[in-house]
Amino acid sequence: MARARSITLKAVSTGLWSLNQSRSGSLRNAQTVRALSTIMSPPSKAVVYEHHGPPDSVTRMVELSPVEVKENQVCVKMLAAPINPSDINRIEGVYPVRPQVPAVGGYEGVGEVYSVGSAVKGLSPGDLVIPSPPSSGTWQTYVVKDHDMWHKISKDSPIEYAGTITVNPLTALRMLEDFTTLSAGDSIVQNGATSIVGQCVIQLARYRGIHSINIIRDRAGSDEVKEKLKALGADEVFTESQLEVKNVKSLLSNIPEPALGLNCVGGNAASLVLKFLRQEGTMVTYGGMSKKPITVPTSSFIFKDLSLRGFWLQKWLGADKAKECRDMVDYLLRLAQEGKLKYEMELVPFDNFHTALDKALGKHGSQPKQVIQF
Ligand SMILES: NC(=O)c1ccc[n+]([C@@H]2O[C@H](COP(=O)([O-])OP(=O)(O)OC[C@H]3O[C@@H](n4cnc5c(N)ncnc54)[C@H](OP(=O)(O)O)[C@@H]3O)[C@@H](O)[C@H]2O)c1
Repeated sequence: MARARSITLKAVSTGLWSLNQSRSGSLRNAQTVRALSTIMSPPSKAVVYEHHGPPDSVTRMVELSPVEVKENQVCVKMLAAPINPSDINRIEGVYPVRPQVPAVGGYEGVGEVYSVGSAVKGLSPGDLVIPSPPSSGTWQTYVVKDHDMWHKISKDSPIEYAGTITVNPLTALRMLEDFTTLSAGDSIVQNGATSIVGQCVIQLARYRGIHSINIIRDRAGSDEVKEKLKALGADEVFTESQLEVKNVKSLLSNIPEPALGLNCVGGNAASLVLKFLRQEGTMVTYGGMSKKPITVPTSSFIFKDLSLRGFWLQKWLGADKAKECRDMVDYLLRLAQEGKLKYEMELVPFDNFHTALDKALGKHGSQPKQVIQF
C-alpha cells in the first residue's frame, strides 16, 4: 500500500513539472506548479528526546509533521531498527558523538523507499535501503535523508538482519581483520560472547577456520547459553566463575593460545581475556558493558609484552570507508541470507517501544537484541 501511494505521488509530481515547462510564459503558473509539485513525507511517528538522561524517562513517542522531500532526497518508510547499547549511550549523553537535542533516537535500521525527490536517480519506491554509513534518527516511521545516505540492498534480505547488519556484525568483521593476522587453526578469545558482536565473532571466526574461546556472565541457564553458542561454532565457552583457577589455559583442549582477545565488558571479564592471551598478544576493547575499568597486572606487560588497543566503528567509518562499508554490509547480508550468520533477536511492534527499551536497559535480566518493527 505504501508503495502504491508513493508511486502516485511521484507521478503527480512529474506530470506537474512537464506542465510547468509547457506554460513557461506565465510566472504565476510556474509558481503554482512548483508549490503543487512539492513532495512531502507523510507525518512520522517517532521516539524523541529533548534532554539527555535516563532513556526510559527522557524518551517519548510523538507525531512529527510532514517534511519536504527535496529534489536530492529520499523518503523511506522504516521497517525495522534495533536498540543498541550505543543508542542508549547517545540518549544518556555519554557517547562522544551524538545528535543535538531535541533528537530522534536510533542509528541503524532498514526501510522501503516511499518517495524520491525529482533529481534522484538509482532509487525508486519499493527499493529496500539502509542508512549507510549509519546515521541518527531511525526510530521513526518515515525518514527523509539525502539520496546518497541510503544504500540499496537486495530485496530478499531478511528485514531483521538488514536493520542490524552494520553496527555489530561489521564491528566483529573489522576486529578480526584489523589487529592481527589470523590464519586457519589460530584462535581468539572474547568476553561478552552472547552479544550480537560476540555471536558474529564466533561465526566469522569459524568461517575462516579460527577457533574461539568464549567467556559469558554467570547466570541461570548458562548451560543452555553455552550450547547455543557452540551451535553457532564456538569451540569453548566458560562462565567467568569457571575461570577462577590458577591456570586458565589448562582448561583448553587442543586449541592454540590466542593472539587476539576482544573485550566487550571490562572489569574482571577483561582480566580473564588477558589471562588467555599468548606472549605478545593483543586485547582490543570495543565495549564497556560492566562499566568497570580494566585492570592490567604489571606482569602482563613485562613478561608477556601484551598490547592493549581499542576499536570504534564510527572512527573507522570516518576514515573514508563509505564504499568499503557498503561492500562489507553486502557480504555480511549475503551470509545472513545463506544462513551462515545468525544471531538472536526479538522483534517488537513500534507501539511497544518502551517495553523493548526496558529489556534493552537490562531491567528484565539477559534478553535477546530488541529490534523494533514498524
Ligand atoms: N566500539 C564499537 O565501534 C562498537 C560497535 C558495536 C558495538 N559496540 C559495543 O559492543 C558491546 C556489545 O554490543 P551489542 O549490540 O552486540 O550487544 P547486545 O547484543 O545488546 O548484548 C549486550 C551484551 O552485553 C552483556 N551485558 C549487559 N549488561 C552487562 C553487564 N552489566 N555486565 C556484563 N555484561 C553485560 C550481555 O550479556 P548477557 O547475555 O549475559 O546479558 C550481552 O552479551 C556494547 O558495549 C556496544 O556498545 C561497540
